[in-house]
Amino acid sequence: MKENFNIAIDGPAGAGKSTIARKVARTLDFVYVDTGAMYRAAALYLLRSGLSKPSGDLTEDFRQEVCSRLKDADIRLEYQNGQQVVLLNGENVNPYIRTEEVSNMASIVSAIPQVREEMVRLQQKIASSGNVVMDGRDIGTVVLPDAQIKVFLTASVEVRARRRYLENLEKRKAGKQVSSEDLDLEAIAKDIAERDYRDTHREKGPLRQASDAVLIDSSEMSISQVAEAILNLYADKKGRPRVITARTAGFCFGVKRAVDAVYNEAENGSPIYTYGPIIHNEVVVEDLRRKGVDVIHTPEELEGRKDATIVIRSHGVTKELQQKIEASCARCIDTTCTFVKRIHEIVEKESAAGKKIIIIGNHGHAEAEGHVGWSKTPATIIENEQEAECFDGDKNIPLCVVAQTTFNGNKFSELVDILKQRQYNVTVNNTICNATRERQTEAGEIASKADIMIVIGGKSSSNTAKLYEICKEVCDRTYLIQTAEDLDLHLNGSEKLIGITAGASTPNNIIEEVQKDVRRTDF
Ligand code: DC
Repeated sequence: MKENFNIAIDGPAGAGKSTIARKVARTLDFVYVDTGAMYRAAALYLLRSGLSKPSGDLTEDFRQEVCSRLKDADIRLEYQNGQQVVLLNGENVNPYIRTEEVSNMASIVSAIPQVREEMVRLQQKIASSGNVVMDGRDIGTVVLPDAQIKVFLTASVEVRARRRYLENLEKRKAGKQVSSEDLDLEAIAKDIAERDYRDTHREKGPLRQASDAVLIDSSEMSISQVAEAILNLYADKKGRPRVITARTAGFCFGVKRAVDAVYNEAENGSPIYTYGPIIHNEVVVEDLRRKGVDVIHTPEELEGRKDATIVIRSHGVTKELQQKIEASCARCIDTTCTFVKRIHEIVEKESAAGKKIIIIGNHGHAEAEGHVGWSKTPATIIENEQEAECFDGDKNIPLCVVAQTTFNGNKFSELVDILKQRQYNVTVNNTICNATRERQTEAGEIASKADIMIVIGGKSSSNTAKLYEICKEVCDRTYLIQTAEDLDLHLNGSEKLIGITAGASTPNNIIEEVQKDVRRTDF
């Protein structure tokens, strides 16, 4: 019979266990078991029955009262559409078990040995029926002592309190009920410290790191990074290649801001258009179209849009077009990236001061064409060595060089050098944005170590094309794909590392799909 694979994740409250365990389980197609939810359901039952939290130490009377009341509580876990549902006497109590009041009571009742025994029995039963990722406090030590992978996940109290606070803030923004106590950072930190103390000091099943558990401190790590670390432990156990996803893969700040603005606006119900596709990603553009956001492509299409909202995307537009858009619609949302705006300002100012503007960028790319339109005198786009060699300007007029924000850093330097060698008087503004620079550097670093490199991005995304170029130079097996469907990996079993990066217009869900498929590809 095939042995079940168990991944046990223990750690204190707020270390990110449940989010990470859920992500790992989703990638591996394992069942995720959130054992804390079971203690929480018990706590909810007790609170609903009118029992209040004891002010001091747990007395024997209180323990007995808890056990006696819980005799009537039937707690089960069920899975509906891949989601864990906690049933308390048949009722789905998922919406009620995440308040601070329930958290505190759960921490108190989980110290009672009889309560733990019953919960552990139920948890072991669930794990015996399939592959699980189970998180809690005593999973690696008591519930699944033979788990093939054990992780002890922790983070500082300050970081955990802040995460909890932000989570509660999000809940309130989404219209859920959140008490003022749940939004008091100091009170949350105090609660977490108290819970840590209770969890680590109880006599039965205290929170502690199993001797064979891997310690991960998530204070400085993102959820994806921790999940990837755990998935790589799994890969090691299974003799499969490790997968590293670039930290900088996917939406940059400017793109995220632009896409979020359109999604928010789409909910308002008024007619809304983006001038050009909001990002170079067909999946996102199509999703927005279904939500009523259309794309217009030409100045002529601005006619008759007096009632509409028109969004200028992060690439920006020419000054003339910006003015025309603002004059033709009810509302203009300008999501031009701040780095792009800075280039518009340089171009406008320096051209007015008599310099000739050179844009190192791609012909026909919306951002580069936009820059041209902010120059007071004719500007020139230079894309490659040949164009730099052939540029025929007046040597008495100084050049002001700027870069398209997503241009390849090395190539930019090469093209500038050519202009300098040709005795032009050049002022250089390396306006490639940090996000692009970091993304390109990281992609190159990963690709140089990887056996296979996957670059994800839209067909017409120029920053993605550049990532591909950079990776291909150092890793022969570099593939450029738009979505997971394009992935056609042929592993020969010798690969140790697969790298993944993605352009600035690639949404997270597409990156996650690719990660999942790469992890599941057979030799
Ligand atoms: O992980 P969580 O915050 O949802 O857990 C709620 C409470 O339950 C927490 O105070 C610790 C307790 N717990 C436990 O004692 N043992 C587990 N395996 C899981 C949770």
